[in-house]
Amino acid sequence: MRSIETKAVHTAAMEERFIQPKVMPLYQTSAFSFSSLEELEGYYEGNGTYLYSRTANPNTDALGQSVAEMEGAPKGIAASSGMSAILAGMLAVVKAGDHILAAEDVYGGTFHLLREELLRMGIHVHFADFTNTDEMEQILIDFPEVKLIFSESITNPFLRVENLQTLEQFKGRYGVKVMIDNTFATPYTTAPYAQGADLVAHSATKYLGGHSDVTAGVLVGNADLIDEAEKRVVNLGLNLSPFEAWLTLRGLKTLAVRMKAQTANAQAMAEFLHGKARVWYPGKGAIVTFELPEDMDISKFFSSLGWIKIVPTLAGVETTVSYPYGTSHRALTEEEKQKIGVTPQVVRLSAGIEGTEDLLKQLDGAFR
Ligand SMILES: Cc1ncc(COP(=O)(O)O)c(C=O)c1O
Repeated sequence: MRSIETKAVHTAAMEERFIQPKVMPLYQTSAFSFSSLEELEGYYEGNGTYLYSRTANPNTDALGQSVAEMEGAPKGIAASSGMSAILAGMLAVVKAGDHILAAEDVYGGTFHLLREELLRMGIHVHFADFTNTDEMEQILIDFPEVKLIFSESITNPFLRVENLQTLEQFKGRYGVKVMIDNTFATPYTTAPYAQGADLVAHSATKYLGGHSDVTAGVLVGNADLIDEAEKRVVNLGLNLSPFEAWLTLRGLKTLAVRMKAQTANAQAMAEFLHGKARVWYPGKGAIVTFELPEDMDISKFFSSLGWIKIVPTLAGVETTVSYPYGTSHRALTEEEKQKIGVTPQVVRLSAGIEGTEDLLKQLDGAFR
């Protein structure tokens, strides 16, 4: 008879069972067990078993692979956040002494990663206006150390759609790799890998997860680069928790239906706003940015939106608004904000899945 102490950790109920769940179960475990040294050896020979969750876990593997399939890329990995995925992807390409050419309007977190953290690692970055291909090409000519071009498929907050064709041409001409952050567009609207990107990163915290309940990242791309990035994820401990991978996978199943509804709502709200404000909407994706006329009280506008709340993120099923001037772009100087157009009257709207008429009523009320 086993003691209570032993029973507490080894009961029949805890043994493996041959059940077939309809959806992928959560493997909320930090490690995996082996009954013999032969079984353990089998892991190292690549029989598809698992050893330790920081190095690999069925839930995180499934997430990486699912997004890779949706992006049309051979391989993918999950990471603990969008920033982790971006870092792992960059470090798969560059090392100390190398340079990166990045769009000057990348997400603020990426800007800080490049300018502070990568610089500390001896990696230099050139920020350029990616609408000016001459400027970009001059940097590539002057600095053969550039090994990676980084941009976003749709930028924040003014939703510039990146010209992936140009980047692909530079790739061929200068032997650099191209990495695209596809967070705002999602594979529902844009597939950068198919258009020549070597690596595609996501803040899965946004549309892939879709329900504002996880912080997660995914990186997909060429198998050899993903293998390199995977080493960074494992060695730097950038892995995603199984539960967050499980939640993100659950969200991923409805990506297409959510994006369809959210894009339709974004389009309707962009049309409604037209004539009332200066509007940026590229005709795809579910973010609309607008600038209220100077004589409108922005503070009053935000607090008149009722159930459309002010939230410093995007992409959830609830429609939300954010205030770039006071949050995402707060750290910039007044001059820098003016240069890129982030004035105190700018609002970024993330369309959710609510009824379109209700949303228009809500906006109309705030304008009134
Ligand atoms: C375009 C873009 N990339 C990356 C990130 C970083 O993602 P995370 O917050 O999941 O690290 C964000 C976050 O807002 C983002 O908007």
